[in-house]
Amino acid sequence: MTSDTAIIGVLTVSDRASRGEYEDRGGPAIESWLDRVLISEWRPERRLVPDEQDAIAAAIVELAESCSLIVTTGGTGPAARDVTPEATESVCRCMLPGFGEQMRAVSLGSVPTAILSRQTAGIIGACLVVNLPGKPAAISECLDAVFAAVPYCIDLIGGSWLETDPELLVAFRPASAARQEDVT
Ligand code: MTE
Repeated sequence: MTSDTAIIGVLTVSDRASRGEYEDRGGPAIESWLDRVLISEWRPERRLVPDEQDAIAAAIVELAESCSLIVTTGGTGPAARDVTPEATESVCRCMLPGFGEQMRAVSLGSVPTAILSRQTAGIIGACLVVNLPGKPAAISECLDAVFAAVPYCIDLIGGSWLETDPELLVAFRPASAARQEDVT
């Protein structure tokens, strides 16, 4: 793992936002959540693609070259053009279905249609990819639900060190997982 500025991919998947028919609100919502919760240095890499499996997969592969985390928004539902989970799975080495299970479980407490989202997570290289639904309101709810496990997951795959503001969100790391430069 490195102590450099973490690069986090923010990937909006939307036909209409990519055609400029409406403003992307999902990507900025992800960034503002990360800005609020992360106290370690990070910077976003933003991408906006239509709901096309090849375009989504290519963006994930390209971002994973430099990112420790990619958060996608949109394209997780049951409509014919919702293919973000398929694109994610097509390029990931393994999937982490617990992320989707937990996000759906928490979201179902506020909206019955949360069950329609096939959101998931997976690993590509040293990068964790997490799919979120497209609704901006879903973003903080879903990130709140799973982010406690994200920094340690990224440690385990050799990505950048992420630290959260413990007053907002306590990230779980086993006692043995001290930051390298803190023990030397
Ligand atoms: N999850 C939360 N927390 N809040 C929501 O409003 N909307 C649901 C679901 N998950 C929602 C949610 C709806 S209506 C749909 S269709 C699916 O996410 C898929 O959304 P997407 O296709 O924009 O990814």
